[in-house]
Amino acid sequence: MPNPLNNPTPILLDMDPGVDDALAIILASRSPQIDVKAITVCGGNVGVEQCALNTIKTLDWGELKSKPPVAMGAWRPVRRSPFRAGGIHGPDGLGDVLDRYPNPSLTDIDPRPAVDLILHTLRELPPNSLTIVATAPLTNIALAISKDPETVRRAKQIIWMGGAFTTHGNISPVAEFNAFCDPDAAAEVLNFSVPMTVVGLDACLQCPLTRDELRSIRECGRAGAFVWDICQMYMDFYQKNEGFDGCFLHDPLAVSLAIWDDITADQKNYHVDVVTEPGVAWGQTIIDRRPRYPWHNPIYRHAYDTLKRMAPDTLASLEEVGVCEKPPHLSIVFSVDGKRLKKRFLKCF
Ligand code: BDR
Ligand code: CA
Repeated sequence: MPNPLNNPTPILLDMDPGVDDALAIILASRSPQIDVKAITVCGGNVGVEQCALNTIKTLDWGELKSKPPVAMGAWRPVRRSPFRAGGIHGPDGLGDVLDRYPNPSLTDIDPRPAVDLILHTLRELPPNSLTIVATAPLTNIALAISKDPETVRRAKQIIWMGGAFTTHGNISPVAEFNAFCDPDAAAEVLNFSVPMTVVGLDACLQCPLTRDELRSIRECGRAGAFVWDICQMYMDFYQKNEGFDGCFLHDPLAVSLAIWDDITADQKNYHVDVVTEPGVAWGQTIIDRRPRYPWHNPIYRHAYDTLKRMAPDTLASLEEVGVCEKPPHLSIVFSVDGKRLKKRFLKCF
């Protein structure tokens, strides 16, 4: 079997740092099984320029040896106005600790637009080798698909942190933040023909990290102190709003799926519909979990095929309103080993 340490997996991170995005950068960059080829950012948790600055800041204060190119992408969703999450991640997106960690200069940012860097990275590598890990609204990826779908098809896979499938939302009753920020982009990318793994809030909520657990890295050099500091405001948010003195490792979980195959405990294939119309369901990610769902049940699958032959009108009217079963081409992660992830994350320091 090839040794992954001699042959690290090439990945591109598309993000909106964001405290947990910063933790994801550190996990990816400190994992020898992974070779981070590029980081692209879009507006999300904070504005796109701030996300780019936060990325460079994390590469520096996180004491990361390799410095991949960092490029700026979309400042707003493909069709709508932007939403931000400064109230959760801090006004600057990294816990508002600017006095200790001042902003770097924008001159360190790659001059290419994010979409061009994504396409360039895909073209530089053999087809079917680059994994894209997206931990943000999918705006940059949707724009790359619109510009050059053939090149995006060279990706080995896309792993996305986004959506909420069996649980409530975090930005609305039903929607997860990354899906909510740009549902049009999510709908487009989730329907694109590249193998895709989606890890939503269902699995992320199984990855808590308490303030006490994080304290153990506080004295671990510059990087440990930086991570401890940027997490304080983020953890205060969970404490005030959910009574939990800690945070969740949303974005590091997405990265971990590109590194280890023993984190995922349960995953299943589904089609995902994303609600793109304004209203209370805006950004909701819907899968069909009815037990009679034919794609997961060979007996009903047969009945469905029969209905299609015998009563095509009934099926046609269901199809017309878009509630008909569709082929399940996305792998959705429902359950993970959060303890294992936490242990490995803390071991990075
Ligand atoms: C996601 O939303 C953002 O605030 C986090 O960075 C994460 O990517 C969780 O819903
Ligand atoms: Ca994020």
